[in-house]
Formats: sequence, structure tokens, C-alpha cells
Amino acid sequence: MVNYVTKKSNKLMPSKAMKKIAHLDNKRIYKEAAKNPIKFWEKLATDGLQWEKKWTKAYEQKLPYFKWFKGGKINFSKNCLDRHLENQPDKLALVWIPEPTKEKPVKLTYRQLHEKVCKFANVLRKNKIKKGDVISIYLPMVPEALIAMLACTRIGAIHSVVFSAFSSDALKARIQDGKAKILITADGYYRRGEKEDLLTKAKQAIKSTTVKKVIVVSRLKKKLPSPKSKFLDFNKELESAEPTCEPEIMNSEDPLFILYTSGTTGKPKGVIHDTGGYATQAYWTAKWNFNLRDDDVMWCTADVGWVTGHTYAFYGPLLNGATTLIYEGSPDFPDTGRWWKIIQDNKVTVFYTAPTAIRMLQKCDPKIIKKHNLKSLRILGTVGEPIDRDAWMWYFKKVGGSRCPVIDTWWQTETGGTLINALPGIGPFIPTVSGISFPGTKHIIVDEKGKQIKKPNVTGNLVQVPPLAPGMLHGVWKNPKKYKETYWKRFKKYYDTSDGAFLTKGGLIRITGRTDDVMKVAGHRMTTAELENAINDHPRINETAVVPVPHKVKGEVPVAFVILKGKKDATKINPEQLEKEVKKLTDQKIGPTSRPAKVFIVPALPKTRSGKIMRRILKALLIDEEPKGLSTLLNPKSVEEIKGIIKSSQ
Ligand code: PRX
Repeated sequence: MVNYVTKKSNKLMPSKAMKKIAHLDNKRIYKEAAKNPIKFWEKLATDGLQWEKKWTKAYEQKLPYFKWFKGGKINFSKNCLDRHLENQPDKLALVWIPEPTKEKPVKLTYRQLHEKVCKFANVLRKNKIKKGDVISIYLPMVPEALIAMLACTRIGAIHSVVFSAFSSDALKARIQDGKAKILITADGYYRRGEKEDLLTKAKQAIKSTTVKKVIVVSRLKKKLPSPKSKFLDFNKELESAEPTCEPEIMNSEDPLFILYTSGTTGKPKGVIHDTGGYATQAYWTAKWNFNLRDDDVMWCTADVGWVTGHTYAFYGPLLNGATTLIYEGSPDFPDTGRWWKIIQDNKVTVFYTAPTAIRMLQKCDPKIIKKHNLKSLRILGTVGEPIDRDAWMWYFKKVGGSRCPVIDTWWQTETGGTLINALPGIGPFIPTVSGISFPGTKHIIVDEKGKQIKKPNVTGNLVQVPPLAPGMLHGVWKNPKKYKETYWKRFKKYYDTSDGAFLTKGGLIRITGRTDDVMKVAGHRMTTAELENAINDHPRINETAVVPVPHKVKGEVPVAFVILKGKKDATKINPEQLEKEVKKLTDQKIGPTSRPAKVFIVPALPKTRSGKIMRRILKALLIDEEPKGLSTLLNPKSVEEIKGIIKSSQ
């Protein structure tokens, strides 16, 4: 295994905390952290953040629950904004690149962003929002998304961001679960040169919910719906608000935000992140993973609808006082050189994206990337799904010019911040291998009984060993049962990641993928159950099985097998028409990212005697492998039938 370490640009920043903890001896930091992780995180929390009151107890644990910095008082927005006003008020906090090339970027300094956040926080207070209220945010990548989120954190409201490509049904389900009082949305946004409507979906979603007011960002200059008392214009309200806003002082353990992620039963789970612990992990992982320096321009391409957008497009860089760049649109608009042009024009130094995007751009004309000057880049990152060697090498050579380390960060919505990766200045950087646990955290691989696997190259279950990392979830919104069942049932004393992994000979962790029914489609997380529920709503479909199959660019794509209602129907139906209808249905229920690549009409699904669908058999048939373990099948005939149907479709 080759370690692609670069010499020049990967020295860790000599931070105050590092000096104290490890005397800048990078390797010793792991040792020091492992000796006493609680003390280690205490030090990081003290050095990285501004607290209103120090905690009385650094860590308390009664599994499956735990608390970080108990008794500590803090305000999150103050840490992202106010404390930078003294030293660098005129430094750029945010650079926003709109998709239309005719439009100018929006640049906000820390002072300007602070003022807007305070004003919008006052708008929220004027609309009777107080500490602990939930606010749903359904916004594309526009500066107002950051302003709205920070404004929530200023007054102690809990934001719940919903991905803007999700359907109105998906938004409604999340609004209802959180009982949101206000929805912040936009009239639309630009995507691949087209105007995408958001307001119609938002209007549908709020019907029969707790939402009293809708605050709309006028991106496409559409007329606001009536009544005026309900639909408010974001920027008009903001302009007329007071520019100062006293922050609400929060307990470290108070919820900062909820973010929904797909559960194995199909119902989205509201993952809860607290304030002090999350802030500590966001601050330090952003600093050390990306070696953030004062003059850095960090671009994390993730949408704010996902956790990566929360922690590394917004909060991590701002907590560190860096400049964050965000882009509204698509990487291939107006051509596939758009991302490279943004990096070149804005001298981006730290670039963080997903393997899907890398694979997509890798396929483009090599002349396009060569035309751009990418020398400003120092560090590259990847996240969201396993990265293959080919994509890794292309990223390292063509984007990073063989100078920049590629940080392959493993983490989850539930973990709040990154947890397993190599650090710049330390390494090693090996294609397809994430690395080791972030200092102060511990991950091991266990067998089905929870026994640690120490041997290399033996795949098992990846678990986190307490004390838990400070950014970890503190529960599932209004559903403690789900929290316990999902994360703590299988291994009791360890947090269950539901990922498979193995150790390399050198003791590094390599992730193999999910062990449950979660798929990663173009880096987006969804479950087979979620899609099956949506497809089963088709009036002519009786039962569905969805399986993910490998895809060259997207990593995985879902394929659906459906059984129709009534025998007569089967002969009358047009399979192409049905496929179209199924895709429309998943668009409507979840969003276009979940669209199945193919829909097969089958007479029966392979099932166990207890009635469980055997998806792994369907998967084997799709990827042309001989299915194993057919002896437990109730209906072995179905396998041959499906094999024939797949063959005849090729
Ligand atoms: O399977 C792992 C995969 O993404 C899952 C978490 O998805 P989500 O909650 O959407 O968060 C994605 C962004 C943090 C994990 O359980 N995953 C994430 N990062 C990697 C990865 N798989 C392999 N390598 C990674 N670097």
C-alpha cells in the first residue's frame, strides 16, 4: 500500500491546544488523547470555544445516554460570529456563488454576517419564537440558509433543515414530526440553468401542520402568496429589524438542531445534536482535518440539507474564523469546468466533496480541468461513501496536482462531525483507506457477538467505544425507543454504526459499506423500506422489493421489483408506462434522488418461510452472480422466474 504523503502543505497548524497537549509533536497527540479522552476533549473545548460558564462535569454516561460539558453555558452563534469581530471584523466569512454566470457573487464579512444574523434573529423573536421551538428550513444553497440557521442558534431555537430537492410529502413528514412553528423557504432557485420552484411544494407541505408563518427568500422574484400575515418576505423583514440581538445563553446539552435521516423502517428519524459537544467536535475536526489557517478559503460542496453541509460548509469553518465558499448550482453548468473555475477565481485552498462528484467529473474531457489553475489548493477531502482507487488517484493527481493530501473522512449524520480519517501532517494517505479514529475517540471492529476482531482483512461491524465523541447524537426526536433499538441494541456497550469495516495490516480502518438496508445513492442516504413504501402506494402495485446495485458514477442505484395487484392486470399493463409512474411516485413521495433505475414486474418475490423478502438474492441476480443460500426459501421457483425476466430485459 502506497502512502501518498506530501511534504510541503500538510503540516498541522500550531494551535494553542496542540502546543499545550502535544508540544506540536503530531504523533503524540493520539497517545495523549487515548490516555485520557475526557481530559483531552475538555482541553479542546476550553481552547476552541468561548463559554459563558464552565461546566461542572466534563462527561457523564449512563448508556445509551451521555452528556458532555454538563453545567456549561454557551451560545453557538456567538462562537461562530461575535468572537471574530474583535480580531477580524472585515474578513470574509461567506462567499456565495450563484449558478447563473451573469450574477455576481455575494460576499459577507464577519461584521456583515453578524448584523444580518442578529436582525433575522429579531425577526424570529418578533414572530414569537423562543428557546426550544423548532423551525423548519427548506432552502437551497443561498446565504439566507446560513443566516437563518445561525439566527436560530442565536435565540436557542432548534433548526431542522430539509433538503431542497425533497418532495412536499417528505417536507411535510419532517415538519409534522418536529411540530415546527415557522417554515423558512425560498420561491425557488437555479439548477442547470432552469428555475426550480420551491414555494409550491412548501405551500402543499404546510397544509394541516403546526406552521403558522412562512418566511420566503425571494430568489426568483416571484409574487408572495396571500395572506400577507402568513407569508413574509425574508429580506424585507430582515432589513427593518434591529441590528443587535442579545444571544440566548444555552446549556451545553440543549439541542442545537435536528436533522432527519432515513431509518430502516422507512420513517425518517430526527437525529438530535446538542450545543457544546457538537461545537467542540465541529471546531476541532474542521481545524485538524483541513489544517485550517487564517487565510483559508474552504469549499465544501455538500448541500445544507445534509449533515456535511451543516458541519463543514457552514459551522466548522465559521467556528474557526475561516472563509467558507458555497455554490448554488450544479457542477456541470454551464459546462463541466464550473467547479474548477470557481476554485481558480476564488483561490480555494481546502476542497471537500463526495466520490460521486469526483467520478462524474473524472469522466469529462481532460482538457477542461487542465485549462484551470488549481494551484491554490492545499488539502482535498472526500466523504459520504467508499471511494474507489481510480477516483482517489484522479482526485489526488488531477485536482490536487499530486501536492495535496486526500483526506477520506468517515462519519455519519449521527456523529455530527468526522471520526475516522488520516490527518494532514500525519497521514498515511492510502487510496480507499479512511485511516484511524480522530484523537480522543475509539472505533473497533467486532463480530456479530460483539467480540473484537483484531486480525487484519476480516470484515466485521464498525462500532464506537465510549466515552462517546462529543458530537454524537443524543437521541431520536420524540422517539427514545428508536434511538435505543437502532444504535444500542446489537452491541449494548458500543455505539453501532451499521457499517462494515476491516483493518488493514497496518491497523488502519477500511470501510466496506452499510450492513443494514441503507443505500447510498450519489452519496444520498435512503433506505430500501422508504422507497418500497412509496412505490406500494401505486394503485396497481401489491408488493415491492428494492435493492441497491453498484453504479459506476453514483456508487449505488435502487432497482425495484414489483408484484401487481390481481392476475388479470399483469397482462394489460404496459411495463414502460408503469416504470414512468413509479418514478413519478418516488419523485413525489421522496424526491428525484430516489428514482429507481429500473422497475421489474415479477410474479413473486423470493421469501423466507417467515415471509421476509430475500433482497440479497435479488441483488445477486441483478449483478449476475449465482445466488447462495436458497435452501431457506419458501418459493425457490421465483428465483428462476426473476432470472428470466432480468435476462430478457437486457
Ligand atoms: O456508510 C457510511 C457512509 O455514509 C454513511 C452515513 O451517511 P450520512 O448519514 O448520509 O452521512 C454522510 C456524510 C457524513 C455511513 O454510515 N460513509 C460516509 N463517509 C464514508 C462512508 N463510507 C465510506 N467512506 C467514507 N469516507
